[in-house]
Amino acid sequence: METQQTLPETQPKKNPITLAIQRALESKKHRKQPYSEYRSFIQHHYDGLAGKLTAVSGILTGHTWLAGRVLRPTAFDVRGCKRILDAGCGNGRHCKYLVREADADAVIAAFDLSQRMLNRSRRRVKGDRVRYAAADLTRLPYADGFFDAIVCGWVLEHLPDPTPGLTELTRVLQPGGKMLLMTTEDTLAGAMSSSMWHCRTYNRQELRQACEACGLVWHRQLYFTNLHRMFKLGGIIVEVHKP
Ligand SMILES: C[S@@+](CC[C@H](N)C(=O)[O-])C[C@H]1O[C@@H](n2cnc3c(N)ncnc32)[C@H](O)[C@@H]1O
Repeated sequence: METQQTLPETQPKKNPITLAIQRALESKKHRKQPYSEYRSFIQHHYDGLAGKLTAVSGILTGHTWLAGRVLRPTAFDVRGCKRILDAGCGNGRHCKYLVREADADAVIAAFDLSQRMLNRSRRRVKGDRVRYAAADLTRLPYADGFFDAIVCGWVLEHLPDPTPGLTELTRVLQPGGKMLLMTTEDTLAGAMSSSMWHCRTYNRQELRQACEACGLVWHRQLYFTNLHRMFKLGGIIVEVHKP
């Protein structure tokens, strides 16, 4: 796992042709309708074939295996954490590793908008360690400061505005708690992913500012491998802390 502590104040200017292709490819769905309608669309999208395909796409993109590189003691270390949340758990890709890495007495909770994704996770993650709930990221059914660690992988891009989701995640995270945020980046690869999954993308500055506005501090950025860092692949992966 590659890490980087700092983020330059300004990001390098992009080639205008690349930028134009990115803009053309990126999904605009989240901007064309009110959030409630977009959210229903996303729920159906993941309930249906797209959600089924996440198992295959995870293998093809390597994300299924790469998730294990992120959730381990040398990267996002959950040892010692007693209440862990998988926000937007999907088919349980991260739950599986949380069950493996977390302390035996840690409580692991997971939620998703899509009931079918929750069922897929239930089937994938053996045993009864994970407590599931159907919920929207912008309205969480958990008490303030309940969790000491949160993993939120590839969900924030399904919010037209990240603030309501980040505000809720910050609310349920205890002071001193940590969170691993993973989201689609505004790169060419990100734009392709955006068109496939009908989501938006983020640039790092924008996401950092949104986190800071919610009281979260960027602790360090992570990359799956050196190749991901070099070729701007793999999206934004950042560990944030609530002071
Ligand atoms: C790309 S999948 C990622 C799933 C999982 N975190 C992973 O990394 O494999 C996105 C998931 O976010 C869920 N989702 C999208 N918008 C959501 C929202 N507003 N609240 C809760 N879950 C949401 C979808 O149902 C889907 O399961």
